[in-house]
Amino acid sequence: MKPACIFDLDGVIVDTAKYHYLAWKRLANSLGFDFTEHDNEQLKGVSRIESLKLILHLGGKELDAAEFDAALVRKNGWYLEYIQQIGPEEILPGAAEFLSSVREQGMKVALGSASKNAVLILERIQLLDQFDAIVDGNKVSKAKPDPEVFLKAAEELAVPVSDCIVFEDAVAGVQAARNAGMKVVGIGSAVVLDQAHFVLPNFAGLSVADVLARFA
Ligand code: BG6
Ligand code: MG
Repeated sequence: MKPACIFDLDGVIVDTAKYHYLAWKRLANSLGFDFTEHDNEQLKGVSRIESLKLILHLGGKELDAAEFDAALVRKNGWYLEYIQQIGPEEILPGAAEFLSSVREQGMKVALGSASKNAVLILERIQLLDQFDAIVDGNKVSKAKPDPEVFLKAAEELAVPVSDCIVFEDAVAGVQAARNAGMKVVGIGSAVVLDQAHFVLPNFAGLSVADVLARFA
């Protein structure tokens, strides 16, 4: 069977990771503490609820249940505000070209994202029709590094886990792919994503043959 590719969304296909960071930082500041880009690495790939728990822990702050829910709504409101204008120009270098070459090879493609805003973003960047399956934050109950999101994607594609190649920019996402028993290509820093099978800065100039050769 041909291998399948499963792509994370934020920070892999589209440059939304910076907007998540800005919205979380704004929330942290409104609660009276700061939130650095270094701390943000721990949040990448992590669900909205788990992210807030981590931020509160980092800031040494406690919220009751109603305040916690209100903080989630505020963060998402700011995030939606930031991504209101996004379009295909925010697709990361080479990502659209790589996606279409994967499809041209007859390989299946899935999205494996923690985001509940995934479909909205894919619509805005005009890539929704490039996916055979979409597993997002509305379909899973366990946050990365739990493998649920990637296992569901493999199931929806009807491809064995050992034939799935995951593309991830987050430490938690790389761990989730590993926990699913899949191959994983890190997108970003090789120092940060040292648990990936190999790491690339982005998809620019990357061919499907290059990736398959690395796993041969
Ligand atoms: C992940 C992002 O893709 O989705 C996280 O890396 C984000 O930063 C998570 O918190 C949940 O996204 P959303 O859009 O449902 O708040
Ligand atoms: Mg990501």
